[in-house]
Amino acid sequence: MKKFPYLLLIVAVFACKSKPSADASATFAIQETAIGKIDTSAVTEYTISNPSGMKVSFLNYGGTVTKIITKDKAGNWGDVILGYDSLSGCLQKGNPYFGVLVGRYANRIAKGKFTLDGKTYQLATNNGPNALHGGLKGFDKVIWSVEKLPGDSSLQLTYKSKDGEEGYPGNVTATVVYSLSSNNEFKIDYKATTDKATPINLTNHCYFNLSAGADSTILGHELMLKASWFTPVDTTLIPTGKLANVMESAAMNFTEPKQIGKDLNEVKGGYDHNWILDKKGKVVGLDLAATLYHPTSGRFMEVFTTEPGIQFYSGNFLDGTLTNTKSGKKYIQHAALCLETQHFPDSPNEPSFPNTILKPGETYTHTTVYKFSVK
Ligand code: GLA
Repeated sequence: MKKFPYLLLIVAVFACKSKPSADASATFAIQETAIGKIDTSAVTEYTISNPSGMKVSFLNYGGTVTKIITKDKAGNWGDVILGYDSLSGCLQKGNPYFGVLVGRYANRIAKGKFTLDGKTYQLATNNGPNALHGGLKGFDKVIWSVEKLPGDSSLQLTYKSKDGEEGYPGNVTATVVYSLSSNNEFKIDYKATTDKATPINLTNHCYFNLSAGADSTILGHELMLKASWFTPVDTTLIPTGKLANVMESAAMNFTEPKQIGKDLNEVKGGYDHNWILDKKGKVVGLDLAATLYHPTSGRFMEVFTTEPGIQFYSGNFLDGTLTNTKSGKKYIQHAALCLETQHFPDSPNEPSFPNTILKPGETYTHTTVYKFSVK
């Protein structure tokens, strides 16, 4: 038995020797590709690859994640998010936030209105009577500056949002770090500071379909949400302020993995709700929030987050009309799903919800990890 560690050492040395260091696929790498221009700004696609060959690509425009390439259980690579074949796809009217960074306030604010320190602010209403996803030109429609961090596995994006932009108070500096680990974890670290009190709620809006193009919908995926409660909504998708237990509504219960299509028809309009994550007693911890499994390919995704909520959106508004899609695919209703880690919708108007107001001198932080494997 004592010889075992020495044996391991010899095997390890041999394993290293058998892999030439010139093999680029065995290291982290970042590639940059120019893909077009918006006005005078160059739009670049950055691709991070890890030693096992997983790749994540994104744009400086909107921080848009354009590809996540992972292996299935047979060892075939495939892209597990919806997206476009060109920049004109991203720029089309009605792009439903494919892969983007959402801010300054992800999700809805009722009637686009909130009061802060005695002053009432009116935002553009871009979703029926409500404000959605940061406004007409939110963080998803601006150019972020991008900086490589040491190690070729992460890049930092920065955006400075001006006082009054989209009606929000305060000059906000937002930084987001996209990283890929050797363990196939795609990590997003968000930070923000401000010089006036302002609501902040940042998230990413990737549309996942783990079949990588094989299945036209996600109805056969199995989802688990680590959440015993959700926030019921009115007909305009604004939380009523009440909390509901998933045990009282079978369709909303994902505490055990469940096929998404199983109860979907019982939820009017499909799933588009905020679940309250069961945290492990800590106020802020990077806890498991959700798992998603595609049985045919074996692809399995785990979502970990420090946020208190997750919006599970079952792609209800996709209707097959988007153009310039990847391989010309028709993205029909439920073609993909979003798992948007976040604070609860309309928190600025719901004092009982966790606080979303960032004050000068404070730093907003949020970490979410999407970990890919097969089973
Ligand atoms: C979020 C919302 C949905 C929808 C999508 C974008 O997930 O909750 O209602 O607006 O974004 O289409």
